[in-house]
Parts: sequence; C-alpha cells; structure tokens
Amino acid sequence: MPGYGNLLRSLEQSTIEPVQAIVKGTIPDWVEGVLYRNGPGRFKFGEKMHQHVFDGGACVHKFKVQDGQVFYSNRLLETNSYKQTLETGRLTPNFGSIDIESNMFGRFKTFFSGNKERHDNTNVNIAPFANEHLYALTEMHLVCKLKPENLEITETVNITNYLPEVSRIFAHPHVEKDGTWITMGVTSGGFNKTPVFKFIKYLGGEKGAESRNFAENGEVIASLPSSYNNGYSYFHSFALTDNYIIFLEQSIMLYFTSYIRDVLIMNKSFSQTMVSDTTLPTRIHVINRHTGERVEKNFHTDSQFTFHCINAYEDKDEIVVDLSSYDSNYFTTETFNYENSYTDKILGSKALWPVAKRIRIPLKSEQDDIFCELKSLKEDLPFEFPIINYSKYNGQRYKYVYGANHFKLPFSVIKLNVDEPENFYEFNYGSSENREIPSEPIFVENPNGSSEDDGVLLVLVLSDKNDYLSVLDAKDLKELARAEIPEQVKSAFTFHGFFADGKTFEKLNV
Ligand SMILES: [Fe+2]
Repeated sequence: MPGYGNLLRSLEQSTIEPVQAIVKGTIPDWVEGVLYRNGPGRFKFGEKMHQHVFDGGACVHKFKVQDGQVFYSNRLLETNSYKQTLETGRLTPNFGSIDIESNMFGRFKTFFSGNKERHDNTNVNIAPFANEHLYALTEMHLVCKLKPENLEITETVNITNYLPEVSRIFAHPHVEKDGTWITMGVTSGGFNKTPVFKFIKYLGGEKGAESRNFAENGEVIASLPSSYNNGYSYFHSFALTDNYIIFLEQSIMLYFTSYIRDVLIMNKSFSQTMVSDTTLPTRIHVINRHTGERVEKNFHTDSQFTFHCINAYEDKDEIVVDLSSYDSNYFTTETFNYENSYTDKILGSKALWPVAKRIRIPLKSEQDDIFCELKSLKEDLPFEFPIINYSKYNGQRYKYVYGANHFKLPFSVIKLNVDEPENFYEFNYGSSENREIPSEPIFVENPNGSSEDDGVLLVLVLSDKNDYLSVLDAKDLKELARAEIPEQVKSAFTFHGFFADGKTFEKLNV
C-alpha cells in the first residue's frame, strides 16, 4: 500500500460499547487508567472525500487499561459539522478542504453573518480540564465538552461568548497540576486592524471543576500584537517555563486580504491561502507569564516552521527552547493534502522531514537585536509528535523526549536524549512493505519510579489486520505488550491524547 495507507482510513461507524482487546505480553500492573485520543476518523462521506489529512470528522478513542487488560471504544463526534454533512451530503469547509458546491455569494454571506456553529470539527486534541472534565479541541472558537462515559458531546462551548475579543483558540493548552489551562488565541484582525495574540489562563482547581465549562474562568494574562498589519503567523503551540511564555512567530502566514481573495472569492481552502514566506525570520517572543510583559528585545532565528514545541527551560541567563522544526523552504501545511499523503511523495523527500532543534535565548544580552542560532539536535532523524514526562519536567531542565517518525520507512517511535542526541532508541512498526502507523507515544509514569524515564509509552498502531495498543518500556523502547483490537473493529489515525491515570483523574476513569 503506498503512502500513508491506513492513516487515511475512513471510519463509517463508531464502536461505543467497549470491546476487549487480546493482550500479548504483560502490561505492568501500575498502568491503570484511560488513554484518550482524538483525530480525524471519517474522511469519506458517500462519494465525497475530505482533501487533507487534518480534515476528517473528529473521532475520539478510549483505551481503558485495568488489571493488565485493555478495553477499546471510540465515537465519531456528532458535531454540527458532521451532522450537516450527513444531512446535506455536502462537506463543510475545513482546514484543507472546501465545499465544492458553494458559491461566492454564499461564502461571503456565511463569513459576515454567521453559521459559525459548523466550525466545530474538534479533531486535533483532547484534554482534561480541572482534572475531571473532558474537552475535544481544534483551532477555532468552538470546543466540545464530552461525557467521559460514552464520549457524547454535552456542550459546544463558544469561547467568544466569554472573552469577546478572542476569535479563536488553539488546540494545545498547557495543563497544570490542578487542571488549569494556559492557552492562546487571536483576535479577528481585518483591514487596517492588526490581529493580537492573546494568552489566556482558564482557572482549574475546585472553582474550575464546579463551573459549567472551562470558558467561564478565562482571563487574558498577556497580549502580543502581530508583527504584521494585515495578518498573522500560523501558530500551533508555545513553550512555558516557570516564569516565561515563549512564542514563535514563524514563516507560514495567514493574510486577511489573501483570505478574502483565495477563500471567499476563489473557493480555495484555508490551508491553500497560507503562504510560507521564507524571507521572514522566526521572531522569538519571551513574555513574563506573571506580569504579561514582553521582554523588549528582538530575538530571532532562521526562517522555519514548527507545529510542536518540545519543551523549554531557564538555564541561568538563558532560555533553552527545543522544537520539532520543518524547513520552510519546502514545507507548507499543504504538504499533508490528500494527494501527497496517498502517494509516497512525502516519504520520498528528506527536505520535508521535521527535525528536533534547539534555540538558546540569551535573556541578559546587552544588544537589542539578537540572532539566536537554530541548531539540530539530531540530523537525519525525522521527529514529530514530541512527548516528555510532562507532569514533572515541563518547563524544567530535562533529558528525554519521545516522538514518532512518519517520514522514513519503516515508521517508528523514537527516544532522544537531548543532552547526548547521538544516543537514541528506535522501535520500528511493520516494515517498508507492510506499513503500520504508530501514533504519538504517550508517556505514563511509573508511580514508584525514581528516574525521568521510568514509565511506559502507549502507542496506538494502525495495521492492515488488527489495530493494536503497543506498550513500550520508556527506558529502552522494548515492547512489553500488545493489546490487539478484534479485527472487525477499526480504529483511526489520531493526532493527540493523554493518559488519565486512576488517581489524578478519578472522574475520567470510566
Ligand atoms: Fe498538534
């Protein structure tokens, strides 16, 4: 099967009643909880097909791990977007897909007057709030609250109802110990109106748990105007240390005028209207997370693009930021359109590989304009979906990061030591011919462990036969167990997720 094969699998139905997986090997007895994952589950509706990997209808997955056994269930979320598509037979426009039957008048009407409810295909991430509520997220103004028992949508939260200046928030909140979210969004911008990035704290803890939804407790903690009048840099994540927010304004740009021309007039997709401008540097913004003040220095580095910051930490007078970085001369968000993904085009091009890189930011420099070198941690190793031992090491000096390789065959999960990057572990799935697709690995810490990497990784693997949950020892990536889902039950590609351990997330362990 060429290209990404099973990654583009389209689910037609949910598996809401849990099915028992067959466990081969032994899952350590301290792994107790639920792995939640989210991603694009349904690409095909009748004869029509979404045209981009990012666009499938949201499908949330649950792996309940208990006493060494695994139970699997999933649900295609009944979002407005999904229901409208089923009812009308028309695809709702999405990140990289369009409604081919729409006309210009209709698109302008929708843009100015509403039907914004359909932008709720929350297929990017799933995150806990206040340690007991569950939300599916994308990069729009709508966030779906889910019932943990059966993954039904109980509320579609419109964040602009609570913070009117914010027109959209992203899908990667930092989640603190009490379930507080530190996240970001952007104002709408427009002609002669500079968009402003907004960093937002949604308070968790008891107050958050008792609130109707996360958005009731939102507070803007910092504002940062876009460096460009007529648009803003596409953003997907930022890094957080004890004292700072580190945000990169990078090469892929969304311009308001291009949006009007390309999307509303020419019926191109959102992804197609974003341009990679390699003449632009990557601007590095350092913001004091307690005061909201930006450090008034022009830190910058080479043009590049990143979806995922790995981690950041303060190191005396410097901040170290690690990221999974693409070469913006070659990579655009259109790289993952359906056509490229269905063929070997992406796999055949090394220039498209994301690589783990490091930037050191000299906070106390005397200069105002400071170039920070962007250094590869490990060349020739494709590295995406980075995961660390987040609860203990986010924002702290750390050693280990785990990630997935979806760019060279066979696909694999990788462990990188950021201090000694030449030493890395890799676990391969399938082979070049029989392509199995591993997901982002999720780190589950051994509660009795003493080292940073004492734990396991949970990896959802898509296969031509049985899909399975692979359990790897986080120390050496040896596979400890596989839990195979019955062959007639299918899973789907997922972007992100988290593990709700039985202790911290009691109410999510259902
Ligand atoms: Fe992401």
